[in-house]
Amino acid sequence: MKILVTGGLGFIGSHTVVELQQEGFEVVIIDDCSNASENVLDGITAITGKRPQFEKLNLRVKEDVLDFFKRYPEVGGVIHFAASKAVGESVEKPLLYYENNLNSLIYLLQCLSKKDNSAFIFSSSCTVYGQADEMPITEDAPVKPAESPYGNTKQIGEEIIVDTCKVMPQVKAIALRYFNPIGAHPSAEIGELPIGVPQNLVPFITQTAAGLRDQLAVFGDDYPTPDGTCIRDYIHVVDLAKAHVVALQRILQEESEGNYEVFNIGTGKGSSVLEVIESFERVSGNSLNYKITGRRPGDVIQAYADTSKANSVLGWKAKSTLDDAMKSAWQWERKIRKQPY
Ligand code: UFG
Repeated sequence: MKILVTGGLGFIGSHTVVELQQEGFEVVIIDDCSNASENVLDGITAITGKRPQFEKLNLRVKEDVLDFFKRYPEVGGVIHFAASKAVGESVEKPLLYYENNLNSLIYLLQCLSKKDNSAFIFSSSCTVYGQADEMPITEDAPVKPAESPYGNTKQIGEEIIVDTCKVMPQVKAIALRYFNPIGAHPSAEIGELPIGVPQNLVPFITQTAAGLRDQLAVFGDDYPTPDGTCIRDYIHVVDLAKAHVVALQRILQEESEGNYEVFNIGTGKGSSVLEVIESFERVSGNSLNYKITGRRPGDVIQAYADTSKANSVLGWKAKSTLDDAMKSAWQWERKIRKQPY
């Protein structure tokens, strides 16, 4: 079975391509390389021994998407990662985010609905819950108004899929709501490659330790949490990648309930910003230069998943610890900075 992975050169996409190939799937990647490098193909090949097919194209161009599906009639499933994802940039450029993230989704679904049967896995986010009232967060928690146009594209994206699935039983979809993906492949052949100054905590930590940044700013220690810093559910990207494979297999083996399902993908364990720093210091042996600064607008106090639905229905569970993930992130950072580890 051939699977199309859009955004397959990106952070989560590339790790998912590895897991798919290791499970015996054929993979074709679409990526426009706006936020990723073609060199990632070498990393994937080094791990799996197999180079996936690659098409450099822009999913916003409808003719190109239609043409792709004509050229690859054998594609039986799509895992859709390609999207713009910088929360701050989405506030500055809302129309770009709606254009990029929603048009591509619509064109893909239009193509899939012409097939007799197709599987579709959508990258959603815990951002749809906003500040949930209860922890851990179940899939039944209400979806709150989005804090950013980026978050809104995830909410609207889910709605577009729900409406499509209602009238097109041939499209079978699963939305995975990710918590905070971190880490890198244990081989250090692929990992996260943020362009410019990292917006997320873990790449900022590793870049600071590698000497690219002077100091990490910890955004606030006056939150109502045990140590005052925000709490998130940090999941190793390899565990997250494996969740996509089992979700896809569920659809292909016709085990889905109805033709649209949603799952939280996290570890179920919350960690504070200071705990993440401690974990990094423990596994790297480095002391991190950080200081407490003011809160970052839009940050929720805490978000961690109830993963019981994914555990029981998908038979999937995150295996790696926070220390495992921090260690792999550090190995990757050292490798790309050409420092021995
Ligand atoms: N943080 C710092 N300093 C930094 C960066 C982050 O203290 O330099 C803190 C944040 O305040 C937060 C925690 O580290 O408490 C995690 O922040 P990230 O930016 O790594 O992750 P977020 O939880 O903010 O972001 C995640 C996803 C986004 C999604 C967002 C929705 O990565 O895709 O949740 O809230 F949009």
